[in-house]
Amino acid sequence: MATKLAALIVLAAFLAGPAACDGASICFSGWLRLPTFNPLLCRRGSRMNRLPRQRGPSPSGLGLSYGYYDNRRSRSYCPRAEGIVRGAVRDAVAAYPGIGAGLIRLFFHDCFVRGCDASVLLTTTNSNNSDTEREGPPNKNSLRGFEVIDAAKAAIEAACPGTVSCADIVAFAARDASYFLSNRRINIRMPGGRYDGRESFANETDQLPGPFSNVTELQASFAAKGLTSDEMVVLSGAHTIGRARCMFFSSRLPEMDPAFAAKLRAQCNGNDDTNVNQDDVTPNVLDKRYYQNVIDRKVLFTSDAVLNSTETMMQVRENANRAGAWERKFERAMENMGKIGIKTRGDQQGAEIRKVCSRVNN
Ligand code: HEM
Repeated sequence: MATKLAALIVLAAFLAGPAACDGASICFSGWLRLPTFNPLLCRRGSRMNRLPRQRGPSPSGLGLSYGYYDNRRSRSYCPRAEGIVRGAVRDAVAAYPGIGAGLIRLFFHDCFVRGCDASVLLTTTNSNNSDTEREGPPNKNSLRGFEVIDAAKAAIEAACPGTVSCADIVAFAARDASYFLSNRRINIRMPGGRYDGRESFANETDQLPGPFSNVTELQASFAAKGLTSDEMVVLSGAHTIGRARCMFFSSRLPEMDPAFAAKLRAQCNGNDDTNVNQDDVTPNVLDKRYYQNVIDRKVLFTSDAVLNSTETMMQVRENANRAGAWERKFERAMENMGKIGIKTRGDQQGAEIRKVCSRVNN
């Protein structure tokens, strides 16, 4: 079985060509599980060798401000913008809480690739490449919530054309989804002022950590964006909502709590594409339950389970036990994530306010 899987992976790497290895979904990013690590699959210069040893500077967020669209005297005045996003998210989450989970993840996947510039939403780009981030392995057939962003954008464009960026809409939507899914306990202060990028490439999604990553790899991928190990642990708590496909955890069922594993085995029933709830206890509530699940071995991915290792165990315990502590840290970490690699008014090269979130302006 293991040999068969290895052969399949080699074949996939071969068919996809060198770009697949460069893109490192095979070599490092932790999105595929290799039965045995085969260095021949990874070329020199793959992500494995490019992992930073030290954390980059924390994102400064220079150029962003709270209530950015409320300033009457600025060209970006659009006082209804944040309210329109909040209304769209409230209705979507009330109808289907899973969409809220999708919106929080959309923000993470946007910010980690090319910064928070809505590159994750593009289907056509400045370079006319059709292989955008949406086609990248972590995103394809997985990301959701696009229609909420599109609906909010259409309503905002009708109110104030060409004023509010898609990148800010993604950030506000993640803030609002966190608010409603936490039963209003998580209230992120999210500044605005981001501009939208004009490029998006599927292979750059290799910068997203994968479910088979170990602690060092997780820390390195967050450090590359200027985020701390503590922020990595705190943001992972978002896995207390939403769903995941069996392909990302079925290999580690024997390592899980036996009753939890038995339930998952029955739900997956041998089908890799089946979705299950990430949190078996409170699947639609953004709460600190994730950390007790880590301790109880009731989490899905390797990347979740490894947080119970010596390096990060203390934070896991603190988040599990101290009431309100995780919620405040999550608020700050989400705000900080929203500052990664932003394009702002002072740095407009290659940036714009898109008219339609899935397409660059002409
Ligand atoms: C620490 C490294 C992380 C890894 C390895 C990881 C990996 C994954 C994977 C594999 C899935 C399931 C995708 C699928 O089955 O299609 C998932 C779902 C999800 N992730 Fe993460 N993730 C990480 C961090 C984060 C962060 C920082 C956030 C947000 C702050 C986040 C929010 C979510 C949410 C909300 C879902 C459920 C999405 C839905 O139901 O549509 N994750 N993640």
